[in-house]
Amino acid sequence: MAENADNLPRRTLKYHQLRPGMTIQEITELSFSYATLDAETVRFLKANFKGASGVLIGDSGRETVPIAQVKELDQLEAIVDLPADLIIAKVALGLPESLYKRGFLEFKVTDSPDAPAAEEPEPEAPAIAVGSDEAKRAYQERLIQVKTFLETVNPALESRDRASNVIEEMMDRGRAGHFSSKGVESAIAEVTGQNLGSAMQAIAGLKNSDQTYAHCVDMSVILQGCYTDLLEQSGKKVDDLVGRLILVSGFMHDIGKSKLPKEIIDSTVAFAPDSKERIILRNHVTYGAQILSDMGMHKAAIDVAHYHHVKKDTSLLASYPDVPFDVVPSMVRFAAVVDVYQALIGRRSYKKNWVPGKAIDYILKRRNTEFDERMVDRFVASMGKYPVVSLVRLNTGDLAYVLMIAPKEHPERPVVSIIENAQGEMITHHEILDLMVEPDIYASEVVDHYEHYNETEDQAFRIFQSIDVS
Ligand SMILES: [Fe+2]
Ligand SMILES: [Fe+2]
Repeated sequence: MAENADNLPRRTLKYHQLRPGMTIQEITELSFSYATLDAETVRFLKANFKGASGVLIGDSGRETVPIAQVKELDQLEAIVDLPADLIIAKVALGLPESLYKRGFLEFKVTDSPDAPAAEEPEPEAPAIAVGSDEAKRAYQERLIQVKTFLETVNPALESRDRASNVIEEMMDRGRAGHFSSKGVESAIAEVTGQNLGSAMQAIAGLKNSDQTYAHCVDMSVILQGCYTDLLEQSGKKVDDLVGRLILVSGFMHDIGKSKLPKEIIDSTVAFAPDSKERIILRNHVTYGAQILSDMGMHKAAIDVAHYHHVKKDTSLLASYPDVPFDVVPSMVRFAAVVDVYQALIGRRSYKKNWVPGKAIDYILKRRNTEFDERMVDRFVASMGKYPVVSLVRLNTGDLAYVLMIAPKEHPERPVVSIIENAQGEMITHHEILDLMVEPDIYASEVVDHYEHYNETEDQAFRIFQSIDVS
């Protein structure tokens, strides 16, 4: 521990708030690359953090060890107890940038008495007023994005089908005892080509995914979209490698099901909570972790497969395997939210139908019992109160599909296209309506598209596909 550091108040700052003269006592947020240490990073840590300690996340919880004992494949969460004589502990000109480049993002610091006061965090940009010139300018940009999004729906649908076939084949081969990562590569190629991300997410909201394979594809594209948002908002860089790792983790999260009888995983009948099928199903998490580690997959993907059913309240029947919630890394906590959300909107036939807006409500109700509440909040912020493809009733009585989520400050003002007027007549000429520039119109409720279209998902999807704004 640094001399007298205990007597000085510690403040938590981001790298860009560091000022010369401050002393770093702890590094409290590290970039994704520390989630599993590689040999080079271990060497770097040992050379530059002599005398400090690392907080590791292990199977039995958090553990603080001297940096000298940190080894490859450890999962490092923070660096604490920096000795005061460490060069890296004294903030000098240029140090914040190099810390950032190295993946150090947030710090606990103490001020030296003569240091200039640190800047307060930048205030958030003021909300754009509804109907303002600024909102109109933003509309032009949103228009282009919405048109591109609509154009990619059909190619994205084809890619989704191919990717879920790949996953099905992979599971079938796995059942016969041959796992290979080739399948994963081609599934990734399918969903990363041609910038299909947001269209793939939209399809996940409208098409059913009764079977494990489409569930895995849909879950992974939602996970990638939302978790990338989360990482970027916390100042982390999401390069191709990280993006692919998130996708792989999603594709493979239920791979352990390939060890189970096909009748169980393809079943459309609900199993009772204490049935033998449910107990068998629970094994998919340990099988999955084993398969992925045998395949030499990244630890982050193994953790997602292993822990995506661990609930915050581990006494819940639905929580397994039996490990403390503390050991569950943040990406897995986030993936757990997405997994439940996708399973709901995927509308397995033995379940009640859930449209995206209702699934968001379901998740919010379990914010504190089943999930990590911070992850729920970030997920809901990414998806919006009315996620893309939600069918909404406007205050005018018209029925519209959401094409782009609303700004955070005005959740009831997404970009929509009206498909039916208040009298229930279908609209043939579709227009894009940005409710941020229409002061008198807003979304007032979410409409269940299954109920509205007599439970036929294909009709809901066909109407969505027919939206033509050219
Ligand atoms: Fe699962
Ligand atoms: Fe799942």
